[in-house]
Amino acid sequence: MKRIKKGPVWGVAIILSAVFLLGISCKGPEGPQGPPGTELCSTCHSDNTEILAREIQYQNSTHYLGGNYERDYFPCAGCHTHEGFIVLVEGGDTTQSIVNPTPPNCRTCHNIHETYTWEDFQLKTTATVNLREGGTFDMGAGNLCANCHQSRASDVIPSGQDTVYIWGPYWGPHHSPVANLISGQGGFEEFSGNYPSTPHYSAITGGCPECHMAEPYGSQAGGHTMNMFYEYHGQTELLTAGCEECHSDPVSEFETADSILEANLDSLRTILINAGIMDSTDHAVAGNWPRNLAGGLWNYLFVKEGHGVHNFDYANSLLENTIQALSGGN
Ligand code: HEC
Ligand code: HEC
Ligand code: HEC
Ligand code: HEC
Ligand code: HEC
Ligand code: HEC
Repeated sequence: MKRIKKGPVWGVAIILSAVFLLGISCKGPEGPQGPPGTELCSTCHSDNTEILAREIQYQNSTHYLGGNYERDYFPCAGCHTHEGFIVLVEGGDTTQSIVNPTPPNCRTCHNIHETYTWEDFQLKTTATVNLREGGTFDMGAGNLCANCHQSRASDVIPSGQDTVYIWGPYWGPHHSPVANLISGQGGFEEFSGNYPSTPHYSAITGGCPECHMAEPYGSQAGGHTMNMFYEYHGQTELLTAGCEECHSDPVSEFETADSILEANLDSLRTILINAGIMDSTDHAVAGNWPRNLAGGLWNYLFVKEGHGVHNFDYANSLLENTIQALSGGN
C-alpha cells in the first residue's frame, strides 16, 4: 500500500477551495492512483471497536495512570517516559532531559501511522535484552517489557568486598526487577543452599503478555490494562485466563505460594530491621554494612519488588537461604 505522509484529505480540501475561490482552472500531469482516503483510514478508524477497546483498557492501566513520568531525565527517563524509551531503542542523546514527556503509550510499543496497515501493531522491539545487571533475557513478546521491568544496575553488590556501601534510602534493585526474577538471575546467591527455578520462563512462550494481557475482564484486568486483579462483588480476584492452559486450579496455587512468600518476607523483614540496615518503611539505611546483611537486604527488596510468584522456587529459596544464614549468625 502507498505510504501517505500528511493529511491527504485536508490537502485536497485546501487545493479544491483555492481553485473554487480564485476561479482558475489548472491542469498538471496526473499522479499515480492512491487508495481512497476513507478506505485507508477506516482499516482502523471505523465503526468497529478494535482500537477503542484497547484505548479504554489502556486508560485504566498504571502505564497511563501511574503518574511517575515527570522522571524525565536520564537514566530515569529511559523507563519512565515514552520519549526516553525511544531514545534508548534508537540510540539517541541521553544527556538532555525530555521536554513534554508522555507516559508509556501506544507509540512506545507499536508504530502509529507508519504503514497505515495492521502491520503497524507489530511490536516496536522483541530483541533479546541484555539486562542492565548482566545476563540476557529472551521471552518472546516479553522482551519488550523487560527493557523497563528489570533491575537498575547501579546498586549491584560488587564482588569480593566484605563491606558494602549503601548510599541512601532508595538503594537496591528498584521497583520492578521482574525480568531478572522470572528468569532466575540477579538475586544475591552467596548464602548456602540451592537456587532452583519454577519453569515459567521456559514454559511460557508468549512472555509477560500471556498472563498480563490475557482475555480482558472489562477494563479492570488483562488486555491493555495489564493488571492481574479485578474487583467482583467486593472481592479481589486473580485474572486466571492466562493460567488455565497449564494449571487446573491456579487460584489455590497462587494463594499457597503467596502466603509462603509473605510469611518469609515478614521474617526476613524483622531480621533486617533489628539489624538496623532497613527502616520500618522498608527503605535502606545508609552506611557501610557487612556483605551478608547487604545481600539479605537486596534479596528482600528483590523478591518484594519483583513479585515472587513470577518464579516461586527461586524467590522462596532466596528468602529461605537468607533467613537461615542471617539467623544462624554468619
Ligand atoms: C493501522 C491503524 C490506523 C490507520 C490505518 C489510521 N490510524 Fe489514525 N490512529 C490510529 C491509532 C491507534 C490512533 C490512536 C493513537 C493514540 O491513542 O495515542 C490514531 C489516532 C488518530 C488521530 C487522533 C490524533 C492522534 O494522533 O492521536 C487522528 C486525527 C487520526 N488517527 C487520523 C487518521 C487518518 C486521517 C488516517 C488515514 C489517512 C488514519 N488515522 C489511519 C491507528 C490508525
Ligand atoms: C517504556 C518502559 C516500559 C515498557 C516497555 C513496559 N512497561 Fe510496564 N510499566 C512501566 C512503568 C514506568 C510503570 C509504572 C508507571 C508509573 O507508575 O507511572 C509500569 C507499570 C506496569 C504495571 C503496573 C504495576 C503496578 O504497580 O500497578 C504492569 C502490570 C506492567 N507495567 C506490565 C508491563 C508489561 C506486561 C509490559 C510489556 C507488554 C510492559 N509493562 C512494558 C514501564 C514500562
Ligand atoms: C530499568 C528501568 C527503570 C529505571 C532506569 C528507573 N525506573 Fe523507576 N520504575 C520503573 C518501573 C517499571 C516502575 C513501576 C514498578 C511497578 O509499579 O510495579 C518504577 C517505579 C518508580 C517509582 C514509583 C514507586 C512507587 O512506589 O510507586 C518511582 C518514584 C521511580 N520509579 C523513580 C525513579 C527514579 C527517580 C529513577 C532514576 C533515578 C528511576 N525510577 C529509574 C523502572 C525504572
Ligand atoms: C506496554 C506496551 C503496549 C502499549 C502501551 C500498547 N500496546 Fe497494544 N499490544 C501490545 C502487545 C504486547 C500486544 C500483543 C498482545 C498479545 O500478545 O496478545 C498488543 C496488541 C495490540 C493490538 C492487536 C494487534 C494484532 O495483531 O491483532 C492492537 C490493535 C493494539 N495493541 C493497539 C494498541 C493501542 C491503540 C494502544 C494505545 C491505546 C496500545 N496498543 C498500547 C503492547 C502494548
Ligand atoms: C505466570 C504468569 C505471569 C507472567 C508470565 C508474568 N507475570 Fe507479572 N504478575 C503475575 C501475577 C500473578 C502477579 C501478581 C503478583 C502479586 O501480587 O504478588 C504479577 C505482578 C506483576 C507486577 C506488579 C503488578 C502490581 O499490580 O503491583 C508487574 C509490574 C509485573 N507482574 C510485570 C511482569 C513482567 C514485566 C513480566 C515479564 C517479564 C511478567 N510480569 C510476567 C503473573 C505473571
Ligand atoms: C505455559 C504453562 C504455564 C502457564 C501459562 C502458567 N504456569 Fe504456573 N507453572 C507452570 C509449571 C510447569 C509450573 C511448575 C510445576 C507446578 O508447580 O505446577 C508452574 C508453577 C507455578 C507456581 C508455583 C507452584 C509451586 O508450589 O511450586 C505458581 C504459584 C504458578 N505456577 C502460578 C501461575 C499463575 C497464577 C499463572 C497465570 C497467571 C500461571 N502460573 C501460568 C506452568 C505454567
